[in-house]
Amino acid sequence: MRIVREVEELQRLSDAERAAGRRVALVPTMGALHAGHLALVAEARRRADLVVVSIFVNPTQFGPGEDFAAYPRPFEADAARCREAGADVVFAPSVEALYPHGAETIVEVERLARPLCGASRPGHFRGVATVVTKLLAAARPHVAVFGEKDYQQLAVIRRLARDLLLGVEIVGVPILREADGLARSSRNVFLGAEARAQATVLRRALLAAEGAVAAGERRSAALLALVRAELEKAPLAELDYAELRDPESLEPAPAALARPALLALAVRFPAEGGPRAVRLIDNTVLRPAAPQGEPS
Ligand code: PAJ
Repeated sequence: MRIVREVEELQRLSDAERAAGRRVALVPTMGALHAGHLALVAEARRRADLVVVSIFVNPTQFGPGEDFAAYPRPFEADAARCREAGADVVFAPSVEALYPHGAETIVEVERLARPLCGASRPGHFRGVATVVTKLLAAARPHVAVFGEKDYQQLAVIRRLARDLLLGVEIVGVPILREADGLARSSRNVFLGAEARAQATVLRRALLAAEGAVAAGERRSAALLALVRAELEKAPLAELDYAELRDPESLEPAPAALARPALLALAVRFPAEGGPRAVRLIDNTVLRPAAPQGEPS
């Protein structure tokens, strides 16, 4: 496995693979790799001959009060995990290599980036869209793999790839969870024991909504009340948002669900040994069955 630090070196490598008729996959990450990231690498491995994992803690997607400085950066362990997972290249550029002239040009996806995390983290998706565009330009992959845990991010990236005619296939991978249901995240390490125990409440809230939909509940307000009641059972949890949205447009879901709806959560917990708070996100797509007598 090679470790590449310069954009031009990665472009040369990728061009040589393409010229030889081989497929290139990119898995963008910010490092502190866990099993969720490795599931993306495995998916990339199935889809391409050359698998590039990028590790770059992108300064432009963190807001002023956020955890850019505290974000974990265990590079040696990350590189070892990539090697074990079958990656061919780790691309780990410096900030100067990826932003050689500062950040004058930005990529902004408009409507999809406004609600949910876009509302609570102003400028976040502009930073994500800009850096992902740069990473795609550096790796020139046929396919790029992202996790459904960051559902809105995946939607934003699919849209920018289409709008900018990038000719790259964007693939989503289902959320990987701990045994107790907590979605894997690089930020889970900042949860103290009590917060870690209570953090399973996100998954329980999603399951409560899924159960209610399976039992016939269609009213958005009732589903969200159920979700909030579940979250209130965890005294350390501070709700950022719990919303029902259209899975494609991310527009608000109707008062009565007739089609699948994204249920997206963001919840803050107190942190230990790092940033002041840990913000966890999770989601599911609720799928109301078609009323009897109608095709599904
Ligand atoms: P990061 O948080 O490191 O996540 C990298 C990729 O791993 C993302 O596509 C994310 O959705 C996926 N991922 C994280 N946890 C997951 C889990 N439990 N199950 C499945 N996939 C999971 O997301 C970013 O970095 C950055 O915003 C990035 C896209 C790299 C741009 O800087």
